[in-house]
Amino acid sequence: MHLTLRSPDDFHLHLRDGAMLQAVLPETARHFARAIIMPNLVPPVVTGAQARAYRDRIMAALPAGMSFTPLMTLYLTEDTDPEDVALAHADGIATAVKLYPAGATTNSHSGVRSFVKIRPVLERMAEIGMPLCVHGEVTDHDIDIFDREAVFIDRVLHPIRKSLPDLRVVMEHVTTENAVDYVRDHHHNLAATITTHHLIINRNHILAGGIRPHYYCLPVAKRETHRVALVEAAVSGDRRFFLGTDSAPHTDANKLLPCGCAGIFSATNTLSCLAEVFEAADRLDRLEAFVSRNGAQFYRLPPNDGTVTLTKGAPVTYPGQIETGVGPVTVFDPGFPLHWHVSA
Ligand code: DOR
Ligand code: ZN
Repeated sequence: MHLTLRSPDDFHLHLRDGAMLQAVLPETARHFARAIIMPNLVPPVVTGAQARAYRDRIMAALPAGMSFTPLMTLYLTEDTDPEDVALAHADGIATAVKLYPAGATTNSHSGVRSFVKIRPVLERMAEIGMPLCVHGEVTDHDIDIFDREAVFIDRVLHPIRKSLPDLRVVMEHVTTENAVDYVRDHHHNLAATITTHHLIINRNHILAGGIRPHYYCLPVAKRETHRVALVEAAVSGDRRFFLGTDSAPHTDANKLLPCGCAGIFSATNTLSCLAEVFEAADRLDRLEAFVSRNGAQFYRLPPNDGTVTLTKGAPVTYPGQIETGVGPVTVFDPGFPLHWHVSA
């Protein structure tokens, strides 16, 4: 059985830098034509000039014979200059801006504490139609980690969207039925990415029968009812939902600590995993919308020219880990065999 799709895009990807970039970039570029590149390096990618330099490093790391277009994002700080953002967008350097609430996740300490302070940047972005990618979790210590996404929608996201209806917003890596419902109920300038792993794991995978750090990411996976809502949204064909893998490599040494890093590395087997999810839902016909069409449409990009072909056969073999030069990185284990082989 074969399935040919237009080349897909990953609308949320961490490539890191240096040796890690070198190792993980081919894992994405093998199958994906473009990706939205997260700016949470150390130090973060804040200015247009920094995004241009990072894009150059990504292109320099691309193996000969592979083609790939990195779509850069700027890391929003309370000191971000609205004009620098607008210029970087006009020059085609920056596709979007990424909002991390300070302290929400990996390298987010330079993120936003006061939403009043970023108002001028958001106003400028609304004027020019530049998308804002949002890590949607509050960071208050008194809010349960499993509730942080839902509380963010009520307390932060909705007020921002109401006061700036022209701002184009992508809710990144949604993990709850609340977020899915919010996107469904608010049609205007709003979309959401869904990761591969949140379509597959729930919180039991992380915590039941022993703690499994390789399933720990942020936002943390929620209970099964939420996973089911995410699958329904992904396979629905609804244009506002599309793939953003949030493939986020950390070395095993950094994952397997008393306080290990958040992030799941799924670039290697993402398309095979997704084909299983869509097949199980009897919606293989909607896979192309989710991975290749809906996101491009929201980002106002032309569809890709190339194609990938998925072929169902004997279980796919893929490495449990990839070597990176700074230590091995474990590849996402969906917990079931994958039968869909991808050829680009
Ligand atoms: O699990 C995560 N890892 N979530 C994020 O938001 C950031 C990412 C990372 O950079 O490692
Ligand atoms: Zn991310």
